Amino acid sequence: MYFKMWRLFFTFLAIPLVLGSQTWNEGLKKAPRYSMNIDLPEEERWESVLQHWNASEFREMATAVFDKMVNKETLQLLEIIGGALDYYLPSPYAGEIRGIAKHFQMDVGEIVLYNLIYDITLSGGCTSIVAQDSKGNIWHARNMDYGFTATLRNWTVVVDFQSHGKTLYTSTSFVGQVGFYTGQRPNAFTVSLNERDEGTMLEDIIQILKALISDKTVFTSFQIRDALSRNDTATFDSALQRLAYHPETAPNYYIVGGAKSAEGAVITRDRLTAVDVWRLDLSNGRWFVLETNYDHWEPPPKSDDRRDPGNKAMNAIGQDAIDLDAMLKVLSLPLVCNSGTVYTTLMSAAHPSSYATFIRHCG
Ligand SMILES: *[C@@H]1O[C@H](CO)[C@@H](O)[C@H](O)[C@H]1NC(C)=O
Ligand SMILES: *[C@@H]1O[C@H](CO)[C@@H](O)[C@H](O)[C@H]1NC(C)=O
Ligand SMILES: *[C@@H]1O[C@H](CO)[C@@H](O)[C@H](O)[C@H]1NC(C)=O
Repeated sequence: MYFKMWRLFFTFLAIPLVLGSQTWNEGLKKAPRYSMNIDLPEEERWESVLQHWNASEFREMATAVFDKMVNKETLQLLEIIGGALDYYLPSPYAGEIRGIAKHFQMDVGEIVLYNLIYDITLSGGCTSIVAQDSKGNIWHARNMDYGFTATLRNWTVVVDFQSHGKTLYTSTSFVGQVGFYTGQRPNAFTVSLNERDEGTMLEDIIQILKALISDKTVFTSFQIRDALSRNDTATFDSALQRLAYHPETAPNYYIVGGAKSAEGAVITRDRLTAVDVWRLDLSNGRWFVLETNYDHWEPPPKSDDRRDPGNKAMNAIGQDAIDLDAMLKVLSLPLVCNSGTVYTTLMSAAHPSSYATFIRHCG
């Protein structure tokens, strides 16, 4: 009851609050940022990130995550599957995961499992927005909500993947994970992943087993890294095609922003393929697309409506005034930023140096 009244209160006050005062600004803390040299062997390249983190604290955190995820028997089974997966995972994932396991003195199966958290569990909400301002700039902002375990908040890192000192792509992820939920390919595109609830954990495990025997299905977080790194997905359009139509292990939403005017879309996916691609449509007044965790053609449930306050705030700001700072304010609204929110990332493919991730403590 208390919670509901709190919600009601903010639903009415949200807009004046966000536009009229500084309450959104909580003294935001930037996530630590590291460069990684991908010219190094796969087993060694994460060292530049991992050396900054405490191994026994990592093991403690991973154990807590596993305990939340599944019971002991299932965990043992998953670890065996995870260990086997190592033989099937494509490059660079298998080698990098082996390097991480060795660094933290953990089983490879455990690190594989830790990398599949998204595919196995329901992670909670997320809010992503791609907008085009009046000058044709594309801005992309996302809240990562991880209601499943906010423990991961303190393990958020930004990594610039470099070759010969040049950044090929940038990610926001959790220490120990080789795939991403958020990333940028400079001057090409930006992408964020929002969860789409379909199916059950048993189905998820079956899908993972299927992925084991089919080299055509990829894990969701690897799909994003593939798009950011492959030679055949170096443009907004080619990346959109791959993110929409390449089979993967879990349903989801991909929110994609390009470097050029009109390049922005929300992809609604089943495991095998997209069911809908919803693009910016400037001639019809659609200068932004905002996705939470519900199909955009259906109303969001009343119990979790982050979409309407977000849309209202975007419209109140307007296309002339929209930029990453303004989108940070939208993503700081009560409900939109909530107790499950672990980070906010701001990015723009045409302005790659704007990439920033803030650790959030809302609600
Ligand atoms: C790592 O963390 C543990 C537990 O918090 C602590 O006892 C240990 O001294 C830390 N190790 C290093 C190298 O900081
Ligand atoms: C995360 O770190 C902050 C300080 O940086 C600490 O107060 C908090 O307890 C940590 N949270 C978890 C879940 O470890
Ligand atoms: C991608 O392109 C680069 C530069 O053109 C080349 O060195 C590399 O081998 C290519 N990678 C693949 C997987 O084709």
